Amino acid sequence: MDITHLSEKFNHTLSTLRYGEDPAELYEPIRYIMALSGKRIRPLLVLLAAEMYDKDVEKALLPAAAIELFHNFTLMHDDIMDRAPLRRGKQTVHEKWNANTAILSGDVMLVRAYQLLTGVEQGKLAHMLERFSETAAQVCEGQQLDMNFEQRDQVSIPEYIRMITLKTAVLLGLSLELGAILQNAPMPDAEHLKAFGHSIGIAFQLRDDLLDVYGDKAKFGKQVGGDILSDKKTFLMLTALEQADEQQLQSIISWRNKTGESIAEEKVSAVTAVYDALNIRHQTEQQIDLYFQKALQHLDAVQLPEERKATIRGLALQLMERDN
Ligand code: IPE
Ligand code: IPE
Ligand code: MG
Ligand code: MG
Ligand code: MG
Repeated sequence: MDITHLSEKFNHTLSTLRYGEDPAELYEPIRYIMALSGKRIRPLLVLLAAEMYDKDVEKALLPAAAIELFHNFTLMHDDIMDRAPLRRGKQTVHEKWNANTAILSGDVMLVRAYQLLTGVEQGKLAHMLERFSETAAQVCEGQQLDMNFEQRDQVSIPEYIRMITLKTAVLLGLSLELGAILQNAPMPDAEHLKAFGHSIGIAFQLRDDLLDVYGDKAKFGKQVGGDILSDKKTFLMLTALEQADEQQLQSIISWRNKTGESIAEEKVSAVTAVYDALNIRHQTEQQIDLYFQKALQHLDAVQLPEERKATIRGLALQLMERDN
């Protein structure tokens, strides 16, 4: 099946899900964020990995939905933590309702995600739950590190890579791993697909960091400059700190911990000016390519004929070049 068909199949599955009705304040935000849809990359990775081993992907549909629901839960909470006004071109849940609503609706999404997973065949259920739970805890670890780093002046690039591996890459890895395991793929293949997902995931977050500065707001659907405003230690920021001359360094440092509507625009343009001067955009793109190449080595190691890997290879390439 091509990607369009797989997406349609998945979207149909999602449309059949019922999260709950009463109280409406709990469930309405879930329908809201799920209807904003997004790229739905993770479920697609589940299904593509599954399809590599068996054309019939039916049993991967609900686990794929579980992962997408889990992902949307993390976004709902992430937007509170990041004070983000926009998601997928629309108001974030905590802005449209309030933080308490976003917390509790997010919580119940996590619970519903687990419920979706329990439909997996008995012989695989314990392993799936274990892998899902382990990954979910890692995402929380990454998110906490991300918050800790906001407050720190110095973060090394390896620390940053570990942080994004946890908050972002492990879930892409899990998506591929689950898809493969559900279709009885050999263990070494499942491991290589997981590793492929990790490298793609690191590149994916690097691209996200890049778009946060250089993206087109209308396409990206998030506030541009949000990471600069919250003093995130992104790859762009850390590379700039490493390479800045005295004057550039002073400029960046002078903006730290400065918040508020009135200075927002000036802060974003001042920091972006340093990034521009140091050609940080290009350096980030090179780093993305490095992780993409690393990912491909893992895909090459998967013991399947090339034609079965072509779709996933193509999707990965698209992800590296995405603008949303
Ligand atoms: C956003 O994920 C959070 C990151 C890990 C960068 P996506 O870029 O997959 O968001 P949607 O689901 O397509 O909106
Ligand atoms: C978020 O990273 C990762 C998770 C949601 C776990 P970001 O904070 O960069 O994601 P966006 O940019 O808000 O989508
Ligand atoms: Mg965040
Ligand atoms: Mg965020
Ligand atoms: Mg981001």
